[in-house]
Amino acid sequence: MVKKLKSLLSHEIPVFYYDETDSTNLRAKEYLKENACDNALFVAKSQTNGRGRLGRSFYSQNGLYMTYVISPDIPIENTVSVTTMASVAVLRAIKKTSGKNPLIKWVNDICLDGKKICGILTEAVTENGNAKHILIGIGINLGKTEFPDDIKDTAGSLGDVSPETLCAEISNSLYEMDLGDISYLGFYKKHSLVLGKEITYFENGIPHPATAIDIDSTGGLVVKADGQTKTLRSGEITVRIK
Ligand code: BTN
Repeated sequence: MVKKLKSLLSHEIPVFYYDETDSTNLRAKEYLKENACDNALFVAKSQTNGRGRLGRSFYSQNGLYMTYVISPDIPIENTVSVTTMASVAVLRAIKKTSGKNPLIKWVNDICLDGKKICGILTEAVTENGNAKHILIGIGINLGKTEFPDDIKDTAGSLGDVSPETLCAEISNSLYEMDLGDISYLGFYKKHSLVLGKEITYFENGIPHPATAIDIDSTGGLVVKADGQTKTLRSGEITVRIK
């Protein structure tokens, strides 16, 4: 795995591969406590403690689970678009390596035939108010997967794709990512699963009916609800399409 993966990377970085680990985001955090680096890659085939958004666990059996570290060292408020940009990098890589055409469900889920095949969790390591490192954690279900009962109706798989090729495509694209360039937005909007749709968004667990009308320049979801226009930020919000 590692040899093939390294041969496909456009750049030389520390790469760590695990058949099974607790969480690649946790591995990255541990590594960064002891080591200085600009970029690093942590990849696993399975995770025993996969972490998702909103403190949820993330099902992680037999897929591609990776954390790519970038080190922008910029004020934390300038990093709000990273997840949106990362989802574009992942979607492009998935399209290129699988020939399939998934869509992005705001803010960071990638869905194929209405089922979630990929989740993204970005976490910052801060120093003096700056995001010294950002851990971009990406989980993609591959192959034939038997999902547990609680997610079997909503989770799907990308199918048979080389994990090394997919991981390298994503990593190469994240390496090139320019946080000041918002040209990714057009692609994001074109591949949005929610724009123009009736949705329910949940804020602190309370459901609100709305229409998704736009994505703003920092990746916020602009909705119309109760005759008012409102921009949703990813923090505590989840979205369900009606
Ligand atoms: C979500 O959909 O809520 C985000 C899921 C992110 C999962 C990835 S898998 C690799 C990395 N390690 C983790 O523990 N989580 C992220």
